[in-house]
Amino acid sequence: MKPILHAKNISKTYGKKGTAAYTAVRDLSFSMNEGEFIGIMGPSGSGKTTLLNMVATLDPVTEGDITIDGVSVSAMTEDQLSDFRAERLGFIFQDFNLLESMTVFENIALPLSLRNAEVEEIQDRVLQVSGIIGIGELLENYPAELSGGQKQRAAIARALIHEPALLLADEPTGALDSRNAETLLDTLAELNAVRNVSILMVTHDPRSASYCSRVLFIKDGKLDRELVPSGTREAFHQEILTVLGDLDRRSGAGGRA
Ligand SMILES: Nc1ncnc2c1ncn2[C@@H]1O[C@H](COP(=O)(O)OP(=O)(O)OP(=O)(O)O)[C@@H](O)[C@H]1O
Ligand SMILES: [Mg+2]
Repeated sequence: MKPILHAKNISKTYGKKGTAAYTAVRDLSFSMNEGEFIGIMGPSGSGKTTLLNMVATLDPVTEGDITIDGVSVSAMTEDQLSDFRAERLGFIFQDFNLLESMTVFENIALPLSLRNAEVEEIQDRVLQVSGIIGIGELLENYPAELSGGQKQRAAIARALIHEPALLLADEPTGALDSRNAETLLDTLAELNAVRNVSILMVTHDPRSASYCSRVLFIKDGKLDRELVPSGTREAFHQEILTVLGDLDRRSGAGGRA
């Protein structure tokens, strides 16, 4: 199996050392192989978004090192990071982040347009990816004419157009009703299973997490434990609920050191 991501003893401290410094992620390590679909869960404020933003190279680590697709990103300059993100990473967000003044086609094409790809290549790739994601009929529409579920599909197509090594998602179903959320998760799970897309997804939602091949639980900025499914999706859902309940109870009793 090919390793796609390795976070080694990473920490993130906000604020100046000493005065009101706050460590949101603390000495955390984990690895991810190509083709995994990993969920990150944990109580509010436990450091999930901080962790994802460090992996996304949007926020530098305070300590430790992150390697993505064989490249150590911790020592890169801003320019190198911006190229790296554009080439190797795909992003989907809770609020879709589509550009309203562009058609769906233009939105999906954006990562390729920005790197001045040939018009023909762009055309081919947009048709191919939008077909896979099931929004081929909507390419001439504007985002305002789409449902939430359709918008998020367009966002996934845009995130995958350049065949990134890693797809990063922060609460991708957060703005969707349960039916659209389920359709979206089916799509992510299929992209993962059939096309081997590696996905790292932060979610509050135990049902969303039950689609993952592994779930990491973060508590107080540290990796608390991980779960892998052993039976049905529903059984995994129940196990996730149990772990979350346990984390909540311990938060109530202890709190942050
Ligand atoms: N830029 C920042 N400056 C200072 N503190 C921050 C900053 N960003 C996050 N924090 C703090 O770090 C901790 C972790 O925040 P983070 O956003 O990673 O949590 P989260 O697990 O994503 O929470 P949620 O589930 O509510 O989205 C929180 O206590 C937060 O207040
Ligand atoms: Mg968050």
